Amino acid sequence: MSETILPLDDSVDNEKRPQFGTRLLKDDADVFKHNACKTWEHTRKRKKPSGAGQRILSDAREVFEFNAWDHVQWDAEQEQAAQAAVEQNSTVKMSEDQRERFQSDAPKFWDSFYGIHDNRFFKDRHWLFTEFPELAPMAAGEQSLPRSIFELGCGVGNTILPILQYSCESQLKVYGCDFSERAIEILRSQPQFDGKRCEVFVMDATEERWQVPFEADSQDIIVMIFVLSAIEPSKMQRVLENCYRFLKPGGLLVFRDYGRYDLAQLRFKSGKCLEDNFYVRGDGTMVYFFTEQELRDMFTKVGLVEEQLIVDRRLQVNRGRCLKMYRVWIQTKFRKPL
Ligand SMILES: C[S@@+](CC[C@H](N)C(=O)[O-])C[C@H]1O[C@@H](n2cnc3c(N)ncnc32)[C@H](O)[C@@H]1O
Repeated sequence: MSETILPLDDSVDNEKRPQFGTRLLKDDADVFKHNACKTWEHTRKRKKPSGAGQRILSDAREVFEFNAWDHVQWDAEQEQAAQAAVEQNSTVKMSEDQRERFQSDAPKFWDSFYGIHDNRFFKDRHWLFTEFPELAPMAAGEQSLPRSIFELGCGVGNTILPILQYSCESQLKVYGCDFSERAIEILRSQPQFDGKRCEVFVMDATEERWQVPFEADSQDIIVMIFVLSAIEPSKMQRVLENCYRFLKPGGLLVFRDYGRYDLAQLRFKSGKCLEDNFYVRGDGTMVYFFTEQELRDMFTKVGLVEEQLIVDRRLQVNRGRCLKMYRVWIQTKFRKPL
């Protein structure tokens, strides 16, 4: 964990590279052989390793031959180094006043974020349909029943727009909310935005009673992509209770977010910690880093039933600079019982 620090491009946090083949890192010395700083598109052009599935680094000497490796195992030493880094950056906590300010002004900080980045920061996530085939558009002509998808913290539409763009479902309705007015404005102004099939609105998901344009028990799918981490921990449970309320019986909550000891957490400097595992970035937006068990406890407490809970440990590499970046994301699917 002692590698040189590169500015972390959070826009790639959510990037799921296409799953091509299996590459196993058998020897740690191979780790710098493969490329790192190339884009998703570049990777697509590379010769695919034989065999289907994910790219596993089994020979450490090959690490710089590709830009990312799946299911990287952490040894005890690496785990301890991560723990130490977190202890170091979270010993000093921000004052109650500072905390209050970041929490109460959270929509303003996200508004400024979108004022600066517009729709350029988070990339459209076409991988979404691989990870969450439930969201995948049906083929043209395929019979479809009416269904409804709601995205919480939809930002500028990096999930909603691909759904609208590729879906041929005549009876699909997509809803999205965000507490940043600016994000919703940007989303509505995108050419792919289709107001007949999609309704987006400004709402703070931490409100006790959600004001939404649909009934309780009505949503087939609720999507939460890197949004729960932006919410103060004491309000997370309430958000999930509301998700439960608006999901249809049998409906699915799909979730992807930051995992504990992700590089983004280890890189925080001392003085940025609001409470354990919850930090404020330089731009004033907040971020929490989850463990599997915390998520399992929160989701099941509201009555949801676990279908998937994956810790996605990925090694992103920069061949040009011989850097290794260990990312940790958690992906879950929980269902509301019938
Ligand atoms: C990291 S961004 C992810 C955006 C989007 N889900 C995506 O994947 O591109 C987090 C989003 O959550 C929104 N957000 C944070 N706290 C929120 C809250 N309490 N209610 C509604 N939206 C919130 C932010 O405005 C921001 O758009």
